Amino acid sequence: MPAPFEKNEIDRSMHEYYEQRAEEYDDWYNRVGRYYDPATNAAWHAQVAELGREAARFGGMLNRYPGMRALDLCCGTGKWTPFFARSLTETGQVIAFDYSPAMLAHARARLQEEDAGLLAKTAFVRGDAYFLPFADQSFDLLFFGFWLSHVPHERVIPFFNEIKRVLKPGGNVLVFDSALRPGVPGEEISRRPLKNGSVHSVLKINYTPLQLEKLLGQVFPRSAARQTYDFFLIGQAAH
Ligand SMILES: C[S@@+](CC[C@H](N)C(=O)[O-])C[C@H]1O[C@@H](n2cnc3c(N)ncnc32)[C@H](O)[C@@H]1O
Repeated sequence: MPAPFEKNEIDRSMHEYYEQRAEEYDDWYNRVGRYYDPATNAAWHAQVAELGREAARFGGMLNRYPGMRALDLCCGTGKWTPFFARSLTETGQVIAFDYSPAMLAHARARLQEEDAGLLAKTAFVRGDAYFLPFADQSFDLLFFGFWLSHVPHERVIPFFNEIKRVLKPGGNVLVFDSALRPGVPGEEISRRPLKNGSVHSVLKINYTPLQLEKLLGQVFPRSAARQTYDFFLIGQAAH
């Protein structure tokens, strides 16, 4: 049985935050509103595009044989889900997974808008990333973007063991996240405002590529990580 979604106050606060942020989440990617910064917008967009190329390369593995399956864990508004759905064969499937109903609704709308054919190959599942409601060895590929940085230190290895459980032997993992770089704290409980005036406490842990590679290496036999020019981390692991 999946455990309750909320273990403590930080979980509760983050869950409320993302549920309420769903409407404005893509402002972050698009650099509008509070995220607009003329000094770094161009570099940001170039690096988001680099993530897109990486997601497309990763998703491209899904047409190796019929019926391959991918899990987009903590999918949010589904920014990356189409990159995986596009390469699926007729019998393949992507599961877009999140605990936030508002996020899942946005992800569904994105797929619908992009291509109803992609929507047909995508299932939307609500649940807790720490207790996945999937059988052992269910997926060929597993992706999580900007989620690891919200996982407290003591839950990282149990979380990695949980994703390893649902991956097939030989399965691959792709991770995107924010990079630890000058001016960015390694770890903090940030206070994040939303347009509706609410403010939420959110745990954020930023890693270097080396730290990420070592963390993944504690559970996966092969791991690697790199940084885009400055903003993002791209990690990979294989089962
Ligand atoms: C920073 S967003 C990332 C969204 C998306 N992966 C991306 O790359 O744009 C984090 C997402 O994790 C979801 N989330 C947080 N904790 C979760 C949990 N325990 N189980 C499932 N989803 C969770 C939130 O609802 C939110 O959509």
